[in-house]
Amino acid sequence: MPLSILQYPHPQLREPNVDVTKFDEELRSVVKNMFDVMYATDGMGLAAPQVGINKRLMVFNADDRMDKAEECVFVNPSIISRSSQSKLGEEGCLSFPMIYGWVERHTKIAVSYQDLDGKKFEQVLSGKPAVIFQHEYDHLDGVLFIDRMIPRYKVINKRRLMKMIQQYGPGGRE
Ligand code: CO
Repeated sequence: MPLSILQYPHPQLREPNVDVTKFDEELRSVVKNMFDVMYATDGMGLAAPQVGINKRLMVFNADDRMDKAEECVFVNPSIISRSSQSKLGEEGCLSFPMIYGWVERHTKIAVSYQDLDGKKFEQVLSGKPAVIFQHEYDHLDGVLFIDRMIPRYKVINKRRLMKMIQQYGPGGRE
C-alpha cells in the first residue's frame, strides 16, 4: 500500500517511537514503500514516524543522482559518538513543505544500527550522510528541524508555521 507523508503539526511526528523487533517481509515492504514515497516527493531522507509508523526506522539516499545502490536503511539506529566540530547547513523536511532553515550538525558521527535482517553494524558517517542521519535520527526522538533551526530562521519561518497550524489544524495533514 502506498504511504503518505504526515505534515506538521500531525501529532504522530511527536510521539515516541519503539524499536523494530520483527525483521520480516513486512519490514522490507515498509522500507520499499518509504523509498517510493521519498523519491516521489523529491526527498533525500525519511523517518518512519513521518509515514505514520512510530518505529525506530529511517531511510535515506545521499547520492545526487539517487542511484539505488546508494540507498541506506537504518533499523534501531543510535549515535555512539559525535565530533566536537559542527557545521551550519540549510535543511528542509518532507513534513514541512516550503520551509527551509539553517541547522547546526556535527560533521562526523559514529552510529550503530541493524540491517533488514537484524544484523548489527557500526559505521562512521561524515559529510551529507552525517547531516541527513542526524536529521532523521531526531525524528525518531520526536525532535523536528524547526526545533533546531538557528534563531534567525525560527523568526523567518514563524508565520509559515502558524499558517500550517491554521490550515491543517492540530491534527496536521495526512
Ligand atoms: Co524531516
